[in-house]
Amino acid sequence: MKTKAVEIAQAGGPDVMRLVDIEVPPPGAGELLLRQTAIGLNYIDTYHRSGLYPLPMPAVLGMEGAGVVEAVGSGVKGYKAGDRVAYGVGPRGGYARHRNIPAGRVVKLPKAIGDETAAGMMLKGLTVRSLLRAVYKVKRGETILFHAAAGGVGVIFTQWAKALGARVIGTVGSDDKIAVAKAHGCTHVINYRTENVVERVKEITGGAGLPVVYDGVGQSTFMTSLDCLRPRGLLVVFGNASGPVKSFDLGLLASKGSLYVTRPTVMTYMADDKELAEASRDLIDIVKSGKVKIPINQRYALADAAQAHRDLESRATTGTTILIP
Ligand SMILES: NC(=O)c1ccc[n+]([C@@H]2O[C@H](COP(=O)([O-])OP(=O)(O)OC[C@H]3O[C@@H](n4cnc5c(N)ncnc54)[C@H](OP(=O)(O)O)[C@@H]3O)[C@@H](O)[C@H]2O)c1
Repeated sequence: MKTKAVEIAQAGGPDVMRLVDIEVPPPGAGELLLRQTAIGLNYIDTYHRSGLYPLPMPAVLGMEGAGVVEAVGSGVKGYKAGDRVAYGVGPRGGYARHRNIPAGRVVKLPKAIGDETAAGMMLKGLTVRSLLRAVYKVKRGETILFHAAAGGVGVIFTQWAKALGARVIGTVGSDDKIAVAKAHGCTHVINYRTENVVERVKEITGGAGLPVVYDGVGQSTFMTSLDCLRPRGLLVVFGNASGPVKSFDLGLLASKGSLYVTRPTVMTYMADDKELAEASRDLIDIVKSGKVKIPINQRYALADAAQAHRDLESRATTGTTILIP
Protein backbone atom coordinates (compact mmCIF):
# COMPACT_ATOMS: atom_id res chain seq x y z
CA MET A 1 0.00 0.00 0.00
CA LYS A 2 0.98 3.64 -0.43
CA THR A 3 1.26 5.97 2.57
CA LYS A 4 2.51 9.45 3.45
CA ALA A 5 5.86 9.74 5.23
CA VAL A 6 8.43 12.38 6.05
CA GLU A 7 11.68 11.30 4.46
CA ILE A 8 15.18 12.73 4.10
CA ALA A 9 17.40 12.08 1.08
CA GLN A 10 20.48 13.63 2.72
CA ALA A 11 21.54 14.87 6.17
CA GLY A 12 21.14 18.57 6.92
CA GLY A 13 18.94 21.23 8.48
CA PRO A 14 15.17 20.90 9.00
CA ASP A 15 14.49 21.75 5.34
CA VAL A 16 15.84 18.39 4.14
CA MET A 17 12.62 16.78 5.41
CA ARG A 18 10.02 16.13 2.69
CA LEU A 19 6.48 14.73 2.87
CA VAL A 20 6.45 11.97 0.25
CA ASP A 21 4.46 8.90 -0.81
CA ILE A 22 6.20 5.67 0.15
CA GLU A 23 5.29 2.05 -0.41
CA VAL A 24 4.59 -0.03 2.71
CA PRO A 25 4.71 -3.78 1.99
CA PRO A 26 2.39 -6.21 3.81
CA PRO A 27 3.75 -7.02 7.32
CA GLY A 28 6.53 -9.62 7.21
CA ALA A 29 6.95 -12.58 9.56
CA GLY A 30 6.77 -11.39 13.16
CA GLU A 31 5.57 -7.90 12.17
CA LEU A 32 2.47 -5.76 12.62
CA LEU A 33 1.18 -3.16 10.17
CA LEU A 34 0.17 -0.04 12.11
CA ARG A 35 -2.04 2.88 11.15
CA GLN A 36 -0.48 5.56 13.29
CA THR A 37 -2.59 8.18 15.03
CA ALA A 38 0.15 10.11 16.88
CA ILE A 39 3.95 10.24 16.55
CA GLY A 40 6.43 11.34 19.24
CA LEU A 41 9.08 13.99 18.49
CA ASN A 42 12.45 13.32 20.10
CA TYR A 43 15.85 14.95 20.10
CA ILE A 44 17.33 11.83 18.50
CA ASP A 45 15.25 12.65 15.38
CA THR A 46 17.32 15.84 15.00
CA TYR A 47 20.59 13.87 15.35
CA HIS A 48 19.40 11.45 12.65
CA ARG A 49 18.39 14.38 10.43
CA SER A 50 21.57 16.43 10.96
CA GLY A 51 23.93 13.51 10.39
CA LEU A 52 25.31 13.50 13.96
CA TYR A 53 24.06 9.89 13.98
CA PRO A 54 24.60 8.90 10.30
CA LEU A 55 21.86 6.93 8.49
CA PRO A 56 21.68 5.08 5.18
CA MET A 57 19.64 7.24 2.74
CA PRO A 58 16.85 7.80 1.95
CA ALA A 59 15.59 7.55 5.52
CA VAL A 60 12.30 7.95 7.35
CA LEU A 61 12.90 9.51 10.80
CA GLY A 62 11.00 8.72 14.00
CA MET A 63 11.44 6.23 16.85
CA GLU A 64 8.13 6.59 18.73
CA GLY A 65 4.44 6.38 17.94
CA ALA A 66 0.99 5.02 18.72
CA GLY A 67 -1.86 3.68 16.63
CA VAL A 68 -3.99 0.74 15.61
CA VAL A 69 -2.96 -2.66 14.26
CA GLU A 70 -4.27 -3.01 10.68
CA ALA A 71 -2.72 -6.36 9.75
CA VAL A 72 -0.74 -9.12 11.44
CA GLY A 73 2.26 -10.89 9.89
CA SER A 74 2.82 -14.65 10.05
CA GLY A 75 3.92 -16.12 13.36
CA VAL A 76 2.68 -13.21 15.48
CA LYS A 77 0.80 -14.33 18.59
CA GLY A 78 -1.35 -12.18 20.88
CA TYR A 79 -2.25 -9.38 18.43
CA LYS A 80 -5.22 -8.83 16.10
CA ALA A 81 -6.44 -6.07 13.81
CA GLY A 82 -7.93 -3.24 15.85
CA ASP A 83 -5.58 -3.54 18.86
CA ARG A 84 -4.25 -0.20 20.12
CA VAL A 85 -0.47 -0.23 20.53
CA ALA A 86 2.54 2.05 21.00
CA TYR A 87 6.33 1.81 20.70
CA GLY A 88 9.25 3.94 21.81
CA VAL A 89 12.58 2.39 20.91
CA GLY A 90 12.13 2.12 17.16
CA PRO A 91 13.01 0.66 14.81
CA ARG A 92 13.18 3.99 12.99
CA GLY A 93 10.41 4.79 10.49
CA GLY A 94 7.89 6.52 12.74
CA TYR A 95 7.27 9.70 10.69
CA ALA A 96 4.61 8.00 8.59
CA ARG A 97 0.87 7.36 8.45
CA HIS A 98 1.42 3.59 8.20
CA ARG A 99 4.42 1.45 9.07
CA ASN A 100 5.45 -2.12 9.81
CA ILE A 101 7.09 -2.94 13.13
CA PRO A 102 8.28 -6.14 14.86
CA ALA A 103 5.55 -7.26 17.31
CA GLY A 104 8.13 -7.65 20.09
CA ARG A 105 8.85 -3.92 20.02
CA VAL A 106 5.27 -2.74 20.73
CA VAL A 107 3.10 -2.70 23.82
CA LYS A 108 -0.70 -2.91 24.00
CA LEU A 109 -2.35 0.21 25.36
CA PRO A 110 -4.95 0.18 28.12
CA LYS A 111 -8.09 2.33 27.66
CA ALA A 112 -6.85 4.75 30.33
CA ILE A 113 -3.94 5.86 28.13
CA GLY A 114 -4.88 7.85 25.02
CA ASP A 115 -2.94 7.63 21.76
CA GLU A 116 -1.42 11.11 22.06
CA THR A 117 -0.24 10.44 25.62
CA ALA A 118 1.26 7.12 24.50
CA ALA A 119 3.06 8.71 21.55
CA GLY A 120 4.48 11.33 23.89
CA MET A 121 5.58 9.02 26.68
CA MET A 122 7.15 5.86 25.28
CA LEU A 123 10.70 6.80 24.24
CA LYS A 124 11.10 9.42 26.96
CA GLY A 125 9.43 7.30 29.65
CA LEU A 126 11.47 4.18 28.83
CA THR A 127 14.58 6.35 28.92
CA VAL A 128 13.60 7.68 32.35
CA ARG A 129 12.89 4.18 33.60
CA SER A 130 16.37 3.03 32.56
CA LEU A 131 18.03 6.17 33.98
CA LEU A 132 16.35 5.85 37.38
CA ARG A 133 16.15 2.07 37.80
CA ALA A 134 19.03 0.54 35.81
CA VAL A 135 21.83 3.01 34.94
CA TYR A 136 21.75 4.17 38.57
CA LYS A 137 19.22 3.02 41.18
CA VAL A 138 17.99 6.25 42.76
CA LYS A 139 17.20 5.87 46.44
CA ARG A 140 14.58 7.53 48.64
CA GLY A 141 15.95 10.71 50.19
CA GLU A 142 18.76 11.24 47.66
CA THR A 143 19.29 14.63 46.06
CA ILE A 144 20.05 14.33 42.34
CA LEU A 145 20.44 16.75 39.42
CA PHE A 146 18.80 16.69 35.98
CA HIS A 147 19.73 19.18 33.21
CA ALA A 148 17.00 20.64 30.94
CA ALA A 149 14.34 19.72 33.49
CA ALA A 150 11.48 21.41 31.59
CA GLY A 151 12.11 19.31 28.44
CA GLY A 152 10.40 16.14 27.25
CA VAL A 153 12.54 13.65 29.17
CA GLY A 154 12.92 16.16 32.01
CA VAL A 155 9.27 16.52 33.03
CA ILE A 156 8.81 12.73 33.10
CA PHE A 157 12.10 12.20 34.94
CA THR A 158 11.35 14.69 37.72
CA GLN A 159 7.87 13.30 38.41
CA TRP A 160 9.11 9.70 38.45
CA ALA A 161 12.13 10.57 40.64
CA LYS A 162 9.83 12.37 43.07
CA ALA A 163 7.56 9.33 43.20
CA LEU A 164 10.65 7.31 44.21
CA GLY A 165 11.28 9.72 47.07
CA ALA A 166 14.24 11.62 45.55
CA ARG A 167 14.71 15.40 45.59
CA VAL A 168 15.49 16.74 42.12
CA ILE A 169 17.55 19.83 41.38
CA GLY A 170 16.58 20.81 37.83
CA THR A 171 18.41 23.20 35.52
CA VAL A 172 16.62 25.20 32.82
CA GLY A 173 17.62 27.74 30.15
CA SER A 174 15.08 30.48 30.85
CA ASP A 175 13.12 31.94 33.74
CA ASP A 176 9.83 30.93 32.03
CA LYS A 177 10.88 27.29 32.26
CA ILE A 178 11.44 27.51 36.04
CA ALA A 179 7.69 27.27 36.63
CA VAL A 180 7.38 24.27 34.28
CA ALA A 181 10.16 22.41 36.11
CA LYS A 182 8.69 23.22 39.53
CA ALA A 183 5.20 22.14 38.44
CA HIS A 184 6.59 18.71 37.55
CA GLY A 185 8.27 18.08 40.88
CA CYS A 186 11.69 19.77 41.01
CA THR A 187 12.61 20.79 44.56
CA HIS A 188 15.14 23.39 43.34
CA VAL A 189 15.42 24.92 39.88
CA ILE A 190 18.55 26.70 38.59
CA ASN A 191 18.62 28.86 35.45
CA TYR A 192 21.99 27.69 34.09
CA ARG A 193 22.24 30.66 31.74
CA THR A 194 22.24 33.19 34.60
CA GLU A 195 23.29 31.32 37.76
CA ASN A 196 26.40 29.42 38.85
CA VAL A 197 25.19 25.80 39.00
CA VAL A 198 28.16 24.44 40.98
CA GLU A 199 27.82 27.10 43.68
CA ARG A 200 24.06 26.56 43.95
CA VAL A 201 24.53 22.79 44.24
CA LYS A 202 27.14 23.31 46.99
CA GLU A 203 24.71 25.57 48.85
CA ILE A 204 21.84 23.08 48.52
CA THR A 205 23.94 20.06 49.58
CA GLY A 206 25.90 21.83 52.34
CA GLY A 207 29.10 21.39 50.29
CA ALA A 208 28.72 17.60 49.95
CA GLY A 209 27.92 17.35 46.22
CA LEU A 210 25.62 14.88 44.50
CA PRO A 211 25.70 11.09 44.08
CA VAL A 212 24.50 11.32 40.47
CA VAL A 213 24.02 13.96 37.75
CA TYR A 214 21.90 13.27 34.65
CA ASP A 215 23.12 15.30 31.67
CA GLY A 216 21.34 15.23 28.29
CA VAL A 217 22.71 18.64 27.31
CA GLY A 218 26.26 17.35 26.73
CA GLN A 219 29.04 19.63 25.55
CA SER A 220 28.07 22.87 27.33
CA THR A 221 27.31 21.30 30.74
CA PHE A 222 29.83 18.42 30.94
CA MET A 223 32.44 20.11 33.17
CA THR A 224 29.80 21.70 35.40
CA SER A 225 28.20 18.29 35.83
CA LEU A 226 31.49 16.72 36.97
CA ASP A 227 31.97 19.57 39.47
CA CYS A 228 28.53 18.94 41.02
CA LEU A 229 29.40 15.37 42.02
CA ARG A 230 30.55 14.15 45.41
CA PRO A 231 33.60 11.82 45.52
CA ARG A 232 32.85 8.56 43.69
CA GLY A 233 29.71 10.12 42.17
CA LEU A 234 28.33 9.13 38.75
CA LEU A 235 27.83 11.39 35.74
CA VAL A 236 25.27 10.00 33.30
CA VAL A 237 25.72 11.73 29.94
CA PHE A 238 22.73 10.57 27.94
CA GLY A 239 22.41 13.18 25.17
CA ASN A 240 23.91 15.95 23.06
CA ALA A 241 21.36 18.79 22.91
CA SER A 242 24.22 21.36 22.93
CA GLY A 243 26.59 19.10 20.95
CA PRO A 244 28.45 15.89 21.76
CA VAL A 245 31.23 15.53 24.35
CA LYS A 246 33.98 14.31 22.03
CA SER A 247 36.91 13.69 24.38
CA PHE A 248 38.21 14.60 27.81
CA ASP A 249 41.20 13.93 30.04
CA LEU A 250 40.48 10.74 32.01
CA GLY A 251 42.73 12.09 34.77
CA LEU A 252 40.00 14.62 35.59
CA LEU A 253 37.91 11.79 37.03
CA ALA A 254 40.76 11.08 39.46
CA SER A 255 41.47 14.68 40.45
CA LYS A 256 37.78 15.51 40.94
CA GLY A 257 37.25 12.59 43.34
CA SER A 258 37.40 9.13 41.69
CA LEU A 259 34.30 9.88 39.61
CA TYR A 260 32.42 7.63 37.17
CA VAL A 261 31.02 8.60 33.76
CA THR A 262 28.63 6.53 31.64
CA ARG A 263 27.06 7.20 28.21
CA PRO A 264 23.95 5.01 28.06
CA THR A 265 21.35 4.63 25.32
CA VAL A 266 17.81 3.45 25.94
CA MET A 267 18.15 1.18 22.88
CA THR A 268 20.88 -0.86 24.62
CA TYR A 269 18.89 -1.04 27.86
CA MET A 270 15.75 -2.11 25.95
CA ALA A 271 17.44 -4.40 23.40
CA ASP A 272 15.74 -7.49 24.82
CA ASP A 273 11.98 -7.83 24.11
CA LYS A 274 11.30 -9.16 27.64
CA GLU A 275 13.10 -6.26 29.31
CA LEU A 276 11.25 -3.85 27.02
CA ALA A 277 7.90 -5.44 27.98
CA GLU A 278 8.72 -5.21 31.71
CA ALA A 279 9.87 -1.58 31.45
CA SER A 280 6.79 -0.69 29.37
CA ARG A 281 4.53 -2.20 32.06
CA ASP A 282 6.25 -0.07 34.73
CA LEU A 283 5.83 3.03 32.59
CA ILE A 284 2.16 2.35 31.86
CA ASP A 285 1.51 1.64 35.57
CA ILE A 286 3.08 4.87 36.79
CA VAL A 287 1.23 6.94 34.18
CA LYS A 288 -2.07 5.19 35.03
CA SER A 289 -1.44 5.89 38.73
CA GLY A 290 -1.37 9.63 37.96
CA LYS A 291 2.07 10.01 39.60
CA VAL A 292 3.58 10.78 36.18
CA LYS A 293 1.56 13.02 33.85
CA ILE A 294 2.55 13.54 30.22
CA PRO A 295 2.26 17.21 29.30
CA ILE A 296 1.73 17.48 25.53
CA ASN A 297 2.67 21.12 25.10
CA GLN A 298 3.13 21.18 21.30
CA ARG A 299 1.23 19.50 18.45
CA TYR A 300 2.13 19.75 14.73
CA ALA A 301 0.80 18.11 11.58
CA LEU A 302 3.30 15.51 10.33
CA ALA A 303 3.73 17.71 7.23
CA ASP A 304 5.08 20.45 9.55
CA ALA A 305 7.82 18.26 11.04
CA ALA A 306 10.48 20.76 9.90
CA GLN A 307 8.93 23.48 12.07
CA ALA A 308 8.73 21.06 15.00
CA HIS A 309 12.47 20.38 14.64
CA ARG A 310 13.25 24.11 14.45
CA ASP A 311 11.29 24.76 17.64
CA LEU A 312 12.89 21.84 19.52
CA GLU A 313 16.41 22.83 18.48
CA SER A 314 15.88 26.51 19.32
CA ARG A 315 14.80 25.57 22.89
CA ALA A 316 11.29 26.93 22.27
CA THR A 317 9.47 23.78 23.44
CA THR A 318 8.66 22.42 26.89
CA GLY A 319 7.39 18.98 27.89
CA THR A 320 6.37 16.63 25.11
CA THR A 321 5.76 17.30 21.40
CA ILE A 322 3.73 15.14 19.04
CA LEU A 323 3.17 15.01 15.29
CA ILE A 324 -0.26 14.11 13.91
CA PRO A 325 -0.09 12.04 10.69
N1 LIG B 1 20.50 8.16 25.70
C1 LIG B 1 19.25 7.92 25.38
O1 LIG B 1 18.85 6.79 25.18
C2 LIG B 1 18.29 9.07 25.24
C3 LIG B 1 16.93 8.82 25.09
C4 LIG B 1 16.07 9.91 25.02
C5 LIG B 1 16.57 11.20 25.04
N2 LIG B 1 17.90 11.38 25.14
C6 LIG B 1 18.47 12.74 25.22
O2 LIG B 1 17.79 13.45 26.22
C7 LIG B 1 17.87 14.83 25.92
C8 LIG B 1 16.47 15.41 26.03
O3 LIG B 1 15.68 14.90 24.96
P1 LIG B 1 14.23 15.49 24.67
O4 LIG B 1 13.77 14.85 23.41
O5 LIG B 1 13.41 15.38 25.88
O6 LIG B 1 14.56 17.03 24.36
P2 LIG B 1 14.16 18.31 25.26
O7 LIG B 1 14.77 18.15 26.62
O8 LIG B 1 12.71 18.53 25.17
O9 LIG B 1 14.89 19.45 24.46
C9 LIG B 1 16.26 19.68 24.67
C10 LIG B 1 16.51 20.77 25.72
O10 LIG B 1 17.90 20.85 25.93
C11 LIG B 1 18.22 22.13 26.39
N3 LIG B 1 19.40 22.67 25.72
C12 LIG B 1 20.52 23.11 26.34
N4 LIG B 1 21.40 23.57 25.46
C13 LIG B 1 20.84 23.46 24.25
C14 LIG B 1 21.28 23.81 22.93
N5 LIG B 1 22.48 24.36 22.70
N6 LIG B 1 20.46 23.55 21.89
C15 LIG B 1 19.25 23.00 22.09
N7 LIG B 1 18.77 22.65 23.32
C16 LIG B 1 19.57 22.88 24.40
C17 LIG B 1 16.99 23.02 26.14
O11 LIG B 1 16.36 23.25 27.40
P3 LIG B 1 16.74 24.61 28.20
O12 LIG B 1 16.27 25.75 27.36
O13 LIG B 1 16.02 24.48 29.48
O14 LIG B 1 18.23 24.60 28.35
C18 LIG B 1 16.11 22.16 25.26
O15 LIG B 1 14.75 22.44 25.45
C19 LIG B 1 18.49 14.94 24.53
O16 LIG B 1 19.86 15.20 24.64
C20 LIG B 1 18.29 13.55 23.97
O17 LIG B 1 19.22 13.22 22.99
C21 LIG B 1 18.76 10.34 25.24
